[in-house]
Amino acid sequence: GLPIVVAVDGPAGSGKSSVSKAAARKLGWSYLDTGAAYRALSWFVVQRRLDPTDSDAVIDALPDFDYRIGTHPDTYHVFVGDHDVTDVIREPEVTAVVSAIARVPEVRAFLTGLFRAIIAHGEKRGIVVEGRDITTVVCPDAPVRILLTADEQVRMARRSAELTGHSAAHVGEALRRRDAADSRVVDFMNAADGVITVDSTDLDFDQTVDAVIAVVQKET
Ligand code: C5P
Repeated sequence: GLPIVVAVDGPAGSGKSSVSKAAARKLGWSYLDTGAAYRALSWFVVQRRLDPTDSDAVIDALPDFDYRIGTHPDTYHVFVGDHDVTDVIREPEVTAVVSAIARVPEVRAFLTGLFRAIIAHGEKRGIVVEGRDITTVVCPDAPVRILLTADEQVRMARRSAELTGHSAAHVGEALRRRDAADSRVVDFMNAADGVITVDSTDLDFDQTVDAVIAVVQKET
C-alpha cells in the first residue's frame, strides 16, 4: 500500500529540513525535501540562461527537467540529469530566483505531480515530506500534518549560523524577503485545519526532533 505520509510545512529557517531528515532517520522511513526540487528547477533555469521571471520560458523547459533523487535520509542527493546539484542549489544565486519560479501555477502542478509519484513509489512504511504546501496541497489527506515554526528572530539567528561568511543582517533580510514572496503564493505561517503546530523557539534540535516523533506516534 501507500506509505504513511508525515507532512511538514514551515517558513525558511524553521529547521524543517534538518528536523524532518533526522525524524525520518529515527523512524527508519524515507525523506522528501520538496524545496530542493524547486531549487533544482531554479538551478536548471539559470543554467539554461533563461529569464526566471519569464514564466512561459520556464514552463517550456519543464519537459526537459530530469530530476532524480534517492529518498534515504542519510544519503540524500539531488540530481538534474547527470549533475549532482545537492550543494549548488543552496547558493545565494539560486535561492534568489526560486520564489519567482515557485509562483508559476504550472510549475507547482508539475512538481506536485512529481512529488506524489515519488511518494507512491516509496519502499518504506512511511515518508517524511517537507515544504511549504505539503499539509494543504501536496498531501492534504496525510495522517500526520505538522507546521514547524519558530520566532522570526530565532529563525534568522539559526540561518546565519549555518551560512558562514554572510552578515546576519544580510541573511535576515534575504530570508524575510523570500518568506514574504512565498507566502503570497501559499500560506505556511498559519496552521490549516487539523494541522498540529510544533514551535521550536524554545527547543534545541534534539527536542524538536523528539516533538515531531511524538506527534507521529500519537497520530499513527
Ligand atoms: O525549503 P526551501 O527553503 O529549500 O525552499 C526553497 C523555495 O522553494 C522556497 O523559498 C519556495 O519558493 C519554494 N517552495 C515552494 N513549495 C514547497 C517547497 C518549496 O514553493 N513545497
